[in-house]
Amino acid sequence: MDRFVFSFLCMVSITFALHIPSYIKPCKKNDPNLNDCALKQTKLAFPFVSKGDKQFKARPLNPFFLPFLEVDAGANLELKLINLTVNGLDNIEFKTVNYDIENNKSRFIMSSTLNFVGKYEINGQILVLPIRGDGNCNITFSDGDFIYDTYWTFVEKNSQQFAKINNTKLDMKLKRAHFNFENLFNGDKLLGDNMNKVLNDNWEDVMKEIGPGITHTLDVVATSILKAYFENIPYEEMFV
Ligand SMILES: *[C@@H]1O[C@H](CO)[C@@H](O)[C@H](O)[C@H]1NC(C)=O
Ligand SMILES: *[C@@H]1O[C@H](CO)[C@@H](O)[C@H](O)[C@H]1NC(C)=O
Ligand SMILES: *[C@@H]1O[C@H](CO)[C@@H](O)[C@H](O)[C@H]1NC(C)=O
Ligand SMILES: *[C@@H]1O[C@H](CO)[C@@H](O)[C@H](O)[C@H]1NC(C)=O
Repeated sequence: MDRFVFSFLCMVSITFALHIPSYIKPCKKNDPNLNDCALKQTKLAFPFVSKGDKQFKARPLNPFFLPFLEVDAGANLELKLINLTVNGLDNIEFKTVNYDIENNKSRFIMSSTLNFVGKYEINGQILVLPIRGDGNCNITFSDGDFIYDTYWTFVEKNSQQFAKINNTKLDMKLKRAHFNFENLFNGDKLLGDNMNKVLNDNWEDVMKEIGPGITHTLDVVATSILKAYFENIPYEEMFV
């Protein structure tokens, strides 16, 4: 799954150095209020980033298309999400941005409601109940808080320093998740409606099973966007 999503997201790598685009204003790395500057500038730049920028091979975020997502939900459950449209990435609100320049790491805290619409295939057990089906699905993560950590090292290209992200982590805390899987159990409406009700009534337990796989994909998406800029703009142009 990783490799597939990743190769889809990073279709072409950029081999020549780019410069900071006009919609990103650098912060001073010695500024005692660096993180206030970074939060302000991130908020100002994000509407441009979310529209996509061909120069950076950054795709528009709304809607964001994922061809395939195999949710790793353990041995008892197979869940594939196919031709998925992700809505809401452009509405992300940045709450805090924290750059730890000394230690080459950052933490972004964001919030958003995300909605996933597409096809699904499911087979196995969820909440110890048998589940099976394929069809349209509609999943919503309401009022999510996303804590996104990034770690980087440096590489030199043409005697300039570029950041190279070597590790990331995404944690997600939701206020509510909502699921609708159409056509469960070969279209048996009574069984399907019951199952959707059980999933929604027990959304927190469902998220324990399928959440990590989805969070991981969101991490890959976030990292692909960040890398597009962070690894292609000389470090000294971003932190002056
Ligand atoms: C996903 O989209 C592709 C391209 O439009 C299509 O060929 C394929 O049948 C779709 N898959 C499903 C499961 O709908
Ligand atoms: C951060 O990067 C700098 C420059 O490469 C390096 O000297 C320093 O040791 C790194 N800090 C940590 C904590 O890894
Ligand atoms: C998905 O479900 C939400 C309610 O949870 C609804 O508002 C929305 O219109 C649905 N979207 C589609 C494409 O069915
Ligand atoms: C990469 O990131 C981790 C954080 O998980 C950090 O501890 C480590 O030192 C980094 N690796 C390198 C090669 O710098």
